[in-house]
Amino acid sequence: MAAATDHGSDLVGQGPTLDASEIALVGEAARWAPSIHNSQPWHLRRLPDGLAVLDDPDRAVAVIDPRGRDRAISCGSAVLNARVALRSLGYLTSVEVAPEPAPEPSDGGFSRDRPRVMGVVRAVGRRPAGAADLALAAAVRQRHTHRRVYRSHAVAEEDLLELGKAVLDEGARLSIADAPARRRIADLLREAVRGQAADAELRREVEGWVRRRGSGAEPVDGIPSSALGTSPFPVDSLVHAGQVTIPDVGEIDAELARSTVLAISTREDTLRDWVIAGMALERMLLTATVKGLVATFTDQALQSPEYRPAVAEALGIWDRPQVLLRVGRALVEAPPTPRRPLAELFAD
Ligand SMILES: Cc1cc2nc3c(=O)[nH]c(=O)nc-3n(C[C@H](O)[C@H](O)[C@H](O)COP(=O)(O)O)c2cc1C
Repeated sequence: MAAATDHGSDLVGQGPTLDASEIALVGEAARWAPSIHNSQPWHLRRLPDGLAVLDDPDRAVAVIDPRGRDRAISCGSAVLNARVALRSLGYLTSVEVAPEPAPEPSDGGFSRDRPRVMGVVRAVGRRPAGAADLALAAAVRQRHTHRRVYRSHAVAEEDLLELGKAVLDEGARLSIADAPARRRIADLLREAVRGQAADAELRREVEGWVRRRGSGAEPVDGIPSSALGTSPFPVDSLVHAGQVTIPDVGEIDAELARSTVLAISTREDTLRDWVIAGMALERMLLTATVKGLVATFTDQALQSPEYRPAVAEALGIWDRPQVLLRVGRALVEAPPTPRRPLAELFAD
């Protein structure tokens, strides 16, 4: 498979050798990627000229994500962060996405049995890091998922164009939901959240990833209860202040009516598309962070497969929607979430 490179040619495997501190810096960036329920479902593998991101099936969030779609998107985000770090070190880079043969999702998911390589990032030459590269790299630690009140939902046209370009550059597409689409998505979200809230197994799974203060050792994964939603109605998480909240009629509609709602979609729905969606997601989130914007996941309508075609129809797209987000400016900052130690991530 040809790799996507910064410069058009394909020099995979012939790149400069990275030293240990450079590999550590690239791994460190991958470590801070967003992931479903902060499950951090990845292993890292050192390569002479880069880093491989492998999925970790033992960290699957199997009830809400039975096919591993959100897990692959999470791994894609880690791949993107690794690439951003490598570029900030002054390297031209190449990325191979899901270089192992990928079974179709219809085969019943993937990687139940063994870790699979989701993406490989390599240095393929030298070039000085530009200001944009350094700003994206700095945003890796500045970015947090926002589950708080927004100061403003307005996003400047030129900022939206840049977010769209960030997504397109990674091989996915960004759609902006107009008012009728947001109304329809609100209906779908409400239905999806109701369905999820009625599923005891799913609720147990969500609850199992929430980390409450004082309940043992310092957490290294999961969502601290302090990071959960406090906005009037956050359509961001089933668990709100430790309880499952079912939205009132009208609440989601009112929230989405004033929100800027974005969808990342891919042409197909294979493992490769999911990894690409994750790369596009993180590139978009980092670009948004540089612009002082925050994002909230509004993903429930995509976690239930039966609603995904309706979301696509609402958006007027033929592609497969992979991530739904609200973006805007925050009133208060969101707290950071923890991560596992870097040494634990390296599989070799
Ligand atoms: C594929 C994917 C799906 C996610 N879905 C949700 C979601 O439905 N609700 C939510 O509140 N956060 C969601 N998140 C955000 C994660 O919970 C968050 O990335 C993780 O807790 C780490 O926190 P951070 O993003 O602040 O670093 C999702 C993240 C990813 C990558």
